[in-house]
Amino acid sequence: MICWPPGLDAERFLAEYWQRKPLYLPAALVPWQCPLSPEELAGLACEPEVESRLVSGDDQSGWTLRHGPFEEPDFTTAAERGWTLLVQDVEKHLPQLADMLEPFAFLPPWRIDDLMASFAAPGGSVGPHVDDYDVFLVQGLGRRRWLLDQRPADIAWQEEAPLRVLRHFSPTETIETDPGDVLYLPPGVAHHGIGDEPSMTLSIGFRAPSAGELLTAAGVLLDQRAPLLRYGDRDIDLSERDGGRIGAAAKDRAARLLQQALPLESRIVDEALGRVVTGNKPWLLSARSVEALDADELVDRLDRGDRLRRAPTARFAWTHSGDDVLIFADGASWRLEAAGEQLARGLCETCPLGRGLFSADGVTADRALDLLTALLEQGSLEWIEDDFRG
Ligand code: SIN
Ligand code: CO
Repeated sequence: MICWPPGLDAERFLAEYWQRKPLYLPAALVPWQCPLSPEELAGLACEPEVESRLVSGDDQSGWTLRHGPFEEPDFTTAAERGWTLLVQDVEKHLPQLADMLEPFAFLPPWRIDDLMASFAAPGGSVGPHVDDYDVFLVQGLGRRRWLLDQRPADIAWQEEAPLRVLRHFSPTETIETDPGDVLYLPPGVAHHGIGDEPSMTLSIGFRAPSAGELLTAAGVLLDQRAPLLRYGDRDIDLSERDGGRIGAAAKDRAARLLQQALPLESRIVDEALGRVVTGNKPWLLSARSVEALDADELVDRLDRGDRLRRAPTARFAWTHSGDDVLIFADGASWRLEAAGEQLARGLCETCPLGRGLFSADGVTADRALDLLTALLEQGSLEWIEDDFRG
């Protein structure tokens, strides 16, 4: 739970600060115990399936960016000052860290992208920058100074820098965070975190699909639902032949075709949104070890009492869509009749998942079985190996 200051709670935070302005919440997570050590973080950064970056330098000497996986000597022989190690998705690689997301559960889980951990040596920083997404910065270890400029950012990046560092940054505010403090930053606020001592920050980052991402996903669905909606030029004549030039008439046809596709049907928008927000990083998907099995084996195992859980890297969501229920996992979707709601809720919220998951509602057992088999095949669900059944 977040320990809100007097007069503030989750509801007021959403109405007054969320996506609007920064908020510093001193001692928001007390009693605080940092769930991760710098050594554990360095260990994660040496794993091939873990996304990690090592940033060193500053505006004067220039910036260096290296991507992991790293090797132990990268850390044991690292300079005393001036570098930061950043590791994404730590709550997926160390599932016990998923508890860190609990205090933020007043926001829909599908809005959360990941928990990123960063360890900075004294003077280490990733430079002044703006992020495209909301973030809660939880101070884990040591003290960190956050310089902010709440005025609309002049987004000019240092061209020579290998990471996004602002060319101009004149902070108007300084906030010092100690372990257990939380700093909320909405997208677009220029900030620069830096410390005089070794420090660790845990950032809960959010995802917000762009119009382009939604259109890409909607385009795939539109092609399936309306394959005949395609460029046509029955009115073409010889004047349009002019080497490689695309003429005005062709561009008009393309514009009219796009207009014909709009407005997108709500069932396409529903499905595109769910696919995008549950879309997963390819390296997280490919690191899964997946055991294929058919529907009969699945039923046998569930009947024997074996149970399933969502993979720590999985992203699940569901929605009503017209009279149907749509279930999403890792960027894929399944359309079920309305009675699928119980199955959808179970898949998103229950753990462990057993036989009762798909026998208790009106969804035809075959449809539910197909879905569970597909979820196991793509690794979104996995068997609980050391199950204690009493
Ligand atoms: C950091 O954790 O060092 C940087 C986080 C941020 O500025 O978004
Ligand atoms: Co940032």
